[in-house]
Amino acid sequence: MKSAEIRKKFLEFFESKQHKIVPSAPMVVKDDPTLMFTNAGMNQFKDIFLGNKEAKAPRVADTQKCLRVSGKHNDLEEVGMDTYHHTMFEMLGNWSFGDYFKKEAIAWAWELLTDVYQLPKDRLYVTVFEGDAGDGLEADKEALDFWKEWIDEDRIILASKKDNFWEMGDQGPCGPCSEIHIDLRSEEEIAKEGGKGLVNEDHPQVVEIWNLVFIQFNRKADGSLESLPATHIDTGMGFERLCMAMQGKQSNYDTDVFQPLITSIAEKAGVKYGDDEKVDIALRVIADHSRAISFAIADGQLPSNNGAGYVIRRILRRAVRYGYTFLKFEKPFIKDLVALLAEQFAEVFPEAKAQQDFITKVVEEEENAFLKTLTTGIARLEAIQKDLKGDTISGKQVFELYDTFGFPVDLTALIARENGLSIDEKGFEQEMSAQKERSRAAQTSEAGDWISVHGGEEVTFVGYDELESSAQIVKYREVKEKKKTVYQVVLNRTPFYPEGGGQVGDTGYLEANGEKYSVVDTKKENDLIIHFLAKLPADLEATFKAVVSGKKRQLSANNHTATHLLQAALREVLGDHCAQKGSLVNDKLLRFDFSHFSKVTEEEIAQLEKLVNEKIRQNIPLEERRSIPIKEAMDAGATALFGEKYGENVRMITFDPNYSRELCGGTHVKATGEIGLFKITSESSVAAGVRRIEAVTADVAEAMVTKNEELIAQLNELLKNPKDIAKAVGQLLEERNKLTKQG
Ligand code: ALA
Repeated sequence: MKSAEIRKKFLEFFESKQHKIVPSAPMVVKDDPTLMFTNAGMNQFKDIFLGNKEAKAPRVADTQKCLRVSGKHNDLEEVGMDTYHHTMFEMLGNWSFGDYFKKEAIAWAWELLTDVYQLPKDRLYVTVFEGDAGDGLEADKEALDFWKEWIDEDRIILASKKDNFWEMGDQGPCGPCSEIHIDLRSEEEIAKEGGKGLVNEDHPQVVEIWNLVFIQFNRKADGSLESLPATHIDTGMGFERLCMAMQGKQSNYDTDVFQPLITSIAEKAGVKYGDDEKVDIALRVIADHSRAISFAIADGQLPSNNGAGYVIRRILRRAVRYGYTFLKFEKPFIKDLVALLAEQFAEVFPEAKAQQDFITKVVEEEENAFLKTLTTGIARLEAIQKDLKGDTISGKQVFELYDTFGFPVDLTALIARENGLSIDEKGFEQEMSAQKERSRAAQTSEAGDWISVHGGEEVTFVGYDELESSAQIVKYREVKEKKKTVYQVVLNRTPFYPEGGGQVGDTGYLEANGEKYSVVDTKKENDLIIHFLAKLPADLEATFKAVVSGKKRQLSANNHTATHLLQAALREVLGDHCAQKGSLVNDKLLRFDFSHFSKVTEEEIAQLEKLVNEKIRQNIPLEERRSIPIKEAMDAGATALFGEKYGENVRMITFDPNYSRELCGGTHVKATGEIGLFKITSESSVAAGVRRIEAVTADVAEAMVTKNEELIAQLNELLKNPKDIAKAVGQLLEERNKLTKQG
């Protein structure tokens, strides 16, 4: 069965069990400080498990793009070495939100695997949680009994918390789990040794394919568990491993998911997969990493020097390095895989195909840049070797090569060995731990548990219509940041717009009993609106007046609407390829990043300004559709953003149906005239194929004009005495530098 068919059958099966099939969430996570990338199918449902949000459907299923390269679930170093770990993989999953539980989850998993997919029952094993004294938990007898209805007891293995208690992170929803493993070895091997003893032993052919998690608990900040008000099912099946089992292969890389990629790379390198282990590892690394990189970029994460961007850069560099060393690629080669991937996933994840040229361009630039670094790194390593006293390269030097030049340790070791030298691996490990410690220490914050005040209240956002509202505290928590403690507060009714879609969060205050408490910021965590307070109100149960700073909001709205007008203008002036790649909107300026392959010329800038200002003068009224089906909005020609998680219903913002129509959650002016004036202040490059425009609207633009007038007056004054000309020019330059710095 082809992989596409296997995926389809999974979704059809759960559809037949009344599950709603939903799209994959983007692989790059926004609005969740605990996660950089989606690492499990359940991430997008976290708020439902935590009771912050109602489930729209009690049963859902999907295939989710996941990336496990950082944090609690990190497989990066293993990838390529073995035949079944990946950075990016698809997780097939089915969920029950307070609906069915262990009995059905187990029965359906068994039915799908053995009946629909016809996997041999005598090759399957299941594991069940054996209990944990530390957490005060007994063995999962319930799951054990349900399994006994389907499978011989001697194929059931009781296993420890390490393998059979699933947690997404240090805090949050979790529970015991049951895993299904498959033995894919040959008959002869099985005759020699049964599979049971190989389960959970990292055997490449006795692997876990499906994990059924029974979400019953919430792990609190102090490490203790509390029972959740309702029980849920969260399952995850490794799609690539399932394909290996279904296609009778011994490696994920031998399936039709990876073979086209491997064949293409091997042909280009003039090698054959299966002839030489080192070459094979390189082929697997590149095949795997090319997927992770392409889909991360498709979902809006460009390689960069920090955070999630740096993780993507490191993955790309790892692939380039393997290609360079083992396949002798000295020119960009990953870029050529993008077209293949785009085609392969056109039906499931069309975002790669839609942005194929852009992704190719970004990957190519990154490859070029790293190939240069690699040459410099190799020169550095040669210098180290030349100056070396003794025959061991120190841990510090190995770390420098790793950290500055992206040289994985095994590459340094390999080159050293070729020159009869060795490396101090232990020293390197120490340097690595020290770095991890440094970044942990620099880590932003430590969150306490939520404390309920007016618990169970629905949360309503009223900020599109009101800047003031009465509000009660639903819950709050204390968050210790490096230098200070802040309080995060959830209100039942809030006019505060949480940071999102590039627009900054509202500020303002809560007032009760004559006391005002400043709201210094508003952000979203998943779908929860969180107000940041420096001080906790004395009377938490009071009814507050929640007031948004109107001036800041108006100026931000001016800049947000101007951003929409600019985006439409870019398409008119430069072309339809200009897709949003980043945006910042605050009360001072707007910054818009978009895909475009050359510098925007001065004439084009002038055209953009002219067009946007024309639209401002036309005073086009806002047309807001607050909640319409996404299909209707797309059919109406709305611009959507890649990498954004849209629900079934979306908000559509239009300023002239023939000019600007976007899906957007931000706040806008009632009519474009309010913006007054639009002026581009800079145009620059942020990454390969991505340009940045910064601009201001009336408030700041007027201030700039006033400042200019002041300066001219000053200049005229100084010029009255020609002897002072040098001084005058000096002062003006200084003034100009100050202004440039302020943007
Ligand atoms: N959330 C579970 C996992 O990732 C299904 O294994």
